[in-house]
Amino acid sequence: MKKYLQILKRYKLSVLVCPFLVLIAVLCETIQPMYMAQIIDNGVMPRNLSVITSVGIKMLLISIVGLIFNVCNVYISSKAAIGFSTDLRSELFKKIQHLSFFEIDYFGPSSLITRLTGDIDRIQQVVLMALRMLFRSPIMFILALYFVIRTNHSMAYLLLATVPLLVISVGLILKKGFPFFLKIQQKVDRLNGVVRENLINMRIVKSFVREDYEAKKFNKRSEDLRDTSIHAENIIVTVFPVMQLVMNISIILLLWVGGHKVMIGDLKVGQLIAFLNYFAQILMSLMMFAMMLMVIARASASSQRITEVFTTPLSLDNTSEGLRNIHRIEFGDIKFDHISFHYKGGETDILKDINMHIRPGETIAVAGSTGSGKSSLLQLIPRLYDVTSGCIRIDGIPLQDYNLDELHTNIAMVLQQNELFTGTIAENLRWGKADATLQEIEEVAKIAEAHDFITSFTDGYNTLLGRGGVNISGGQKQRICLARALLRRPKILILDDCTSAVDTKTELRIRKNLKESWKKTTVLVAAQRIHTMLSADRVIVLDGGEVEAFGAPKELLVTSKIFQEIYYSQQIDK
Ligand SMILES: Nc1ncnc2c1ncn2[C@@H]1O[C@H](COP(=O)(O)OP(=O)(O)OP(=O)(O)O)[C@@H](O)[C@H]1O
Ligand SMILES: [Mg+2]
Repeated sequence: MKKYLQILKRYKLSVLVCPFLVLIAVLCETIQPMYMAQIIDNGVMPRNLSVITSVGIKMLLISIVGLIFNVCNVYISSKAAIGFSTDLRSELFKKIQHLSFFEIDYFGPSSLITRLTGDIDRIQQVVLMALRMLFRSPIMFILALYFVIRTNHSMAYLLLATVPLLVISVGLILKKGFPFFLKIQQKVDRLNGVVRENLINMRIVKSFVREDYEAKKFNKRSEDLRDTSIHAENIIVTVFPVMQLVMNISIILLLWVGGHKVMIGDLKVGQLIAFLNYFAQILMSLMMFAMMLMVIARASASSQRITEVFTTPLSLDNTSEGLRNIHRIEFGDIKFDHISFHYKGGETDILKDINMHIRPGETIAVAGSTGSGKSSLLQLIPRLYDVTSGCIRIDGIPLQDYNLDELHTNIAMVLQQNELFTGTIAENLRWGKADATLQEIEEVAKIAEAHDFITSFTDGYNTLLGRGGVNISGGQKQRICLARALLRRPKILILDDCTSAVDTKTELRIRKNLKESWKKTTVLVAAQRIHTMLSADRVIVLDGGEVEAFGAPKELLVTSKIFQEIYYSQQIDK
């Protein structure tokens, strides 16, 4: 709520002007039945044409004034509501950028997309309606009632008697509908989830000929959404017949009582017609109010979902010491001190009591079977996840005491699954360092063994990459990702199996290049290939999240059973 008010403040002027415009426009509308009564009672009945003309002109002028104010209101309110939702969207997007992997895992990307689009649209609708109608219906209600009371008291009581009936029925219907609105948004999330997964994995879907299966999955989610929406709509539409019924009964009542009063000379015909008009206006205002409540009820489900993202505390935020931003990574010395780790929601530890000391400039290979915890271990170093217990120190200082920017600038990580962005190769590389010169770019591309294939393209470094780098091979993509990370000249370089699609020869050349020109950088590399492990200074062998062995490759050939297995299995392969 605080966030909304903060943003709304930027549109202060519109928020203040709109009710004023509405007031004038509504006044112009509610005054009309009174003039109508005058025309009938003083013009039509006594057959006086001049009264009809003069009052008619007045009515026309008032209508034009009302129209002008209405148009101004529509224009200003649209601009404010759209501006509001655009600002809200960018604030939400900003917050999402700061969410850690923990929270992204928790919300799910498709849900975040729905929150950024559909949910914000609903809030925009509320702001728009509020600026146009929030004041309109009460003002109309009060003014219409005022004109009725001024003319005839007893008729006013009759009018007022019907109001509670309407309010209660609408209230009950809305109360029943609310839980469904929340459900609808959740189902939209699920539908988006299916679409997103399908589009990302379209190649796999096609190669396994699973289009029918995917279509069925989509239909199931889609039908699920349809059923819930129909249920909610059914509840909502009952509002209208109920109101219609109350309105018709009231009109009959008014005509009956009013007609009787006209007959005994207590009320004029024109006045009775004006009453019916006012009654319609009062009902209209109530109906508008009910509609607004409905939109608000629907949007409050959306609002809950947006606020949930805003209020989620960042689990990986800067600590107070980190905010001071005084520590610098200089050497790249890493110490794991009794580290245990499990993912949120997971019960068993993925990593158990890890202790190791990595010296600056060392190259460490992380070995182990799949699922042994290699990626999890590496992700802890740039604080993509926080440890569950224990402490990691870089250059002797606990990880939490560094500013996150400092950590991410000096620790470059090439993830197991990497993506490129739409744009040229040079632009993609500059992600690592925005102001890098072409010379710098070429230098790192050579180390990553990417220079040769890039220059073999007609456009060289200006070759345009499709979304995610679809137009280059897997191994080429991995090398560009590596070059992107190298461009930062990090103190610590983490390579999570990021050369798996590169052939062994090229991979060995990359290692050699790195060893020659990056002597001072601490390198951690998760690997499956024995060559990589043998070329490292030391190897840490993980087994089910525990350290099975840690030492120079030659030593491990004697001491580590798992290392021996890897070594001999890959010797046989050759
Ligand atoms: N985001 C996550 N949430 C919950 N559990 C996870 C998550 N990522 C990995 N795991 C679990 O953690 C364990 C270790 O996974 P990890 O990715 O670290 O293994 P790995 O050694 O890198 O495997 P691979 O060689 O296949 O890359 C696995 O059992 C996996 O199921
Ligand atoms: Mg992994």
